Amino acid sequence: MIALLEQGREVDLASARQELPKCPGIAVLRDAGEIVAMCALKRVRSSYVASISKKSGYALTDAPEVGYVVTDCRWQGRGCGRTVCTAMLQQAEGPLFATVREGNEGMIRILQANGFHQKGRCWPSDLRLGMSIGLWIR
Ligand SMILES: CC(C)(COP(=O)(O)OP(=O)(O)OC[C@H]1O[C@@H](n2cnc3c(N)ncnc32)[C@H](O)[C@@H]1OP(=O)(O)O)[C@@H](O)C(=O)NCCC(=O)NCCS
Repeated sequence: MIALLEQGREVDLASARQELPKCPGIAVLRDAGEIVAMCALKRVRSSYVASISKKSGYALTDAPEVGYVVTDCRWQGRGCGRTVCTAMLQQAEGPLFATVREGNEGMIRILQANGFHQKGRCWPSDLRLGMSIGLWIR
């Protein structure tokens, strides 16, 4: 899963190595045993939620974050991301949030299809110079 996230180039890998085993939910889509797409519900971290609240200017309350979403590049554009996220999100109850790079249209479409709306203002990405991150909630 870490190799897949590394390929996606949208997450801090050091943090993902620590956080992935602690996630309360992980969904994967496999082809012949190999993981081709994944997504996760991260554990609630109040200090992280507070930092996103501050950056976005939106009063976010404690909730799990949807993250670690990636589709193997050989499988992208074939519905895998939507399938794996929708399967997980259909089972998730209560408020959720996600942070997404502006212009990441595939991820934004997946969130919109699952009832998420953008809130607050965008803030500069720590990972990608010159890019912005937006807050999405459901
Ligand atoms: C975002 C990502 C997971 C999407 O996975 P995918 O398997 O290619 O997505 P799907 O094929 O299920 O497409 C989902 C929707 O986005 C649309 N879409 C996909 N790529 C798109 C693009 N580049 N531009 C516009 N729309 C796009 C699809 O048409 C589809 O819309 P629909 O369901 O309304 O038909 C994949 O691009 C990826 O791994 N990106 C790198 C990691 C990443 O950005 N993760 C998200 C971090 S928050």
